[in-house]
Formats: sequence, C-alpha cells, structure tokens
Amino acid sequence: MQAERARRFAFAAKAGATPLRIARSEGVWLYTDDGQQILDASGGAIVVNIGHGRREVAEAYAREAERVAYAIPPFATESRVRLVERLLRDWLPRGLTRLAFTSGGSESVDAALRIARAHFVARGEPKRWKVIGRELSYHGTTLATLAVGGHTKRRAGFEPWLPELPKAPACYCWRCPLGKSYPSCGVACVDEVEASLLRAGPETVAAVIAEPIGGSTAGALVPPDDYWPRLAEICKRHGVLLIADEVMTGFGRTGKRFGVDHWGVTPDILVGGKGLTGGYAPMGGIFATEAVVAPIIEQGQEVMFFTYSAHPASCAAADKVLEILERERLVERAALLGEKLGKRLGRLLDHPNVGDVRGRGLLWAVELVADKVTKTPFPAAAGLSAKIVAAGITHGIFVYPGGVDPARDVISFGPPFTISESEIELIGERFERALESALARVR
Ligand SMILES: Cc1ncc(COP(=O)(O)O)c(C=O)c1O
Repeated sequence: MQAERARRFAFAAKAGATPLRIARSEGVWLYTDDGQQILDASGGAIVVNIGHGRREVAEAYAREAERVAYAIPPFATESRVRLVERLLRDWLPRGLTRLAFTSGGSESVDAALRIARAHFVARGEPKRWKVIGRELSYHGTTLATLAVGGHTKRRAGFEPWLPELPKAPACYCWRCPLGKSYPSCGVACVDEVEASLLRAGPETVAAVIAEPIGGSTAGALVPPDDYWPRLAEICKRHGVLLIADEVMTGFGRTGKRFGVDHWGVTPDILVGGKGLTGGYAPMGGIFATEAVVAPIIEQGQEVMFFTYSAHPASCAAADKVLEILERERLVERAALLGEKLGKRLGRLLDHPNVGDVRGRGLLWAVELVADKVTKTPFPAAAGLSAKIVAAGITHGIFVYPGGVDPARDVISFGPPFTISESEIELIGERFERALESALARVR
C-alpha cells in the first residue's frame, strides 16, 4: 500500500501524516507493509484476547456470513442462540439471564443506560433518571456515555450537550483524591459514591456505573477488595441499579471471567465488548437480571436495537472466541502470565520517572512522572505518552496511551493471553528502550 493511499484514510490526522500500514497480524505480532514486526503489547485497544490470526474464528465468521447475511436483531438465528447458551452456561455471573447485543462498547453502555431508565419508567418511578459515574472513567464516546464518564479530554468541547451528572472520586490509591491512604482510609472513596447519591437525592437516581478495574483513562486502577461489595450494598440499600462496565475488563482480561468475579459481586447490569469477540468482529453485549427487565416487558415496552445488533456472523465469531478461551484455558493463563508481566513491569519502579506500576491479570499500566517524590507529571506540552508510543513503534512494540490529569502520562499493557514468557521479557526490554528515547526528547 502506498503512503499516499494510506494518507487518504486518515480522517483527522495532521497534514502529511501517514498512518501505520498494517499488512497482517499473527499471534502477538503486527506486520507492517514494509516488513517491520511490532509486538502488540496492548492487543490493540486492549481487545485481542486470544491473539491474532486464528483461522477457525475467521472460518466460523465466513460460514455464518454465507448462511445468514443479515436478520433483524429480534429474530433468532443458530449463531445467536448458540452464543446466548454458551454465555449463560459458561461465562456470566449467575443471575444475569437477559442478554442483548450491539456492535461495540459505547453502544452497549448506551443501551444499558437506556435499559436502566426504562426500568424505572416502567415501574412508575419516572423521577429516577440520574446516573452516578466517577472521575477518571471512560464509558464510551456517544453523548450519553460521555455524560456518565469522567474522561475530561474526550468530553472537551461537547459539554453543552452533556447533562451535569454527579461524579464520585476515582478509586485511585496512588494519588488518592481524598488525600488518604489504604487501609486507614476505610475505603472512603466508596462512601463518596453514597455521598454523591445522597446529594443528588436517591429518589432521582437510576443507576451507578463503574468499571471494576479502571481502564485506560488513568490506567488499570485496581480498587481495594472491599470496594465492590460495598458499592453493591450501597446501590441495593438505595434501590439504585449497579452497572458494571466490563468492556475492557470482561472475558478474562483481569485473570477471571469478569472483573466483578474477583469480589463475588453480581451487578444488576453487566456490559461487555472488546474481548467478547477478541477483535474479530465488532460486538458488545448487555447482560441484565430478570428483575431489571421484568417491568419493561410487563409494560410492553421495547428496547430499540441498532441495525447491526447481534449480527449473525459476529455472534458466530464470539461463540468461537469463547470456545477457544475455554478449550485453551486462556483465562487461567491470563492470571498466570499477568503475574509475570506485573513482575517484569514492576522492575521499572527503579526508574526515576516511573511513578507507579499497577494492574491485575493481563491489564497493566505504568504511570510516568517528572518527579517521583512530589508525583508531579511532565508538562502537558511535552506530550510524553504520544512520544513513547511513537518511539515504541520504532523499537518494535505497540503500547496503548492513556492519561487524563492528574494521571497525565499513563501507558497501558494488555497483550493477548497467548503471550509467552519470552515475549513478556521482550515487552519489558522494548518498552524500556522506547521510554528512554521519548524521555531524551522531553528532558
Ligand atoms: C470501560 C469501557 N467502556 C466503554 C468503552 C467504549 O467501547 P468502544 O470503543 O467499543 O465503543 C471502552 C473503550 O475503551 C471502555 O474501556
């Protein structure tokens, strides 16, 4: 592919910028047009759970596309029913028995918000419409999902369209927004969710939404163990639905099937995306309890679908991806290899600019700072994260940039679960080189 042709593809890139031209991918590797081999240390946008180049997924997709090109989402097809059966049998926390599908994470969160609202309208409680989110969170890029999210960079400019919704502080122990430290804090950040709820007026609140482990906004924010059980208890006590956004953490990424499984919590609604198809097809899912959906059904209301919701070929791809995860015991592998990745990245803590290394399973993040003692970030104008990603490409590694103030420069790691120990060592080595090249340009 010529550079000139590739440039036409870039919708909002700087004049003259050429996108990286990916010719093919295999295992944990991306191959560019000119033969460069790049270690995909973040599985794209933390998506490619089973690794690239799985022929059997491509074949399952192709077979289904040939059998049923399209059928409106309410119709049953063999691939849809098989996927639902597998999810209910092997994957979802018990109690989540109502399933709907979309084309991705944002659409799924958007639908989950509408379902929460429809639930209360159908129950005759139309005053309940507010959704409590958290700072330093990301739930998608539609207007409703931006409104409940706390990703200030992605919200910027759209604020006039976003209703003011309450935000509780992030669960961010390394820089506790409440100035406390664990365990003496008593997990005060979860009490802040309740405080937001009380300020908003519980009778006006429909739901609380949170990522079980904060994704790439501030980078792999792992809460203390008591956070989620207490969050569930608070929601229950106030009659508010709890939505777990597992778009990034779901389907094994954190070393358990779902993030909430670390704490034995079943939310009222769980949202998945990314890992559901591991990148092979655009798809997301909303999984809810009977109690959430029952009033909607009783009132004869419909939850409007997107045209491509539950696309038959995507369902076939998802079913095959989940089968592979089970057959190869890849969730267990994510837990095991995740510890090794965590140990390797942990060695970076000796570096004067590596402030924190955090994560669980195969979702990790490294936070970079100019001064470790004061935790002062590099100047925004330095654009350190972008420079690290660019240097990484030169050194043969792709890492995923994140970072919203005060977690300004955060690099996330989320390789395929099939990664080997020697490839984990390569991640460490190549990232170190990328970091040094980028730092040399900002010092
Ligand atoms: C937690 C979370 N929710 C929602 C989304 C949005 O998903 P998508 O990009 O598939 O629309 C993301 C994407 O990164 C995410 O991490």
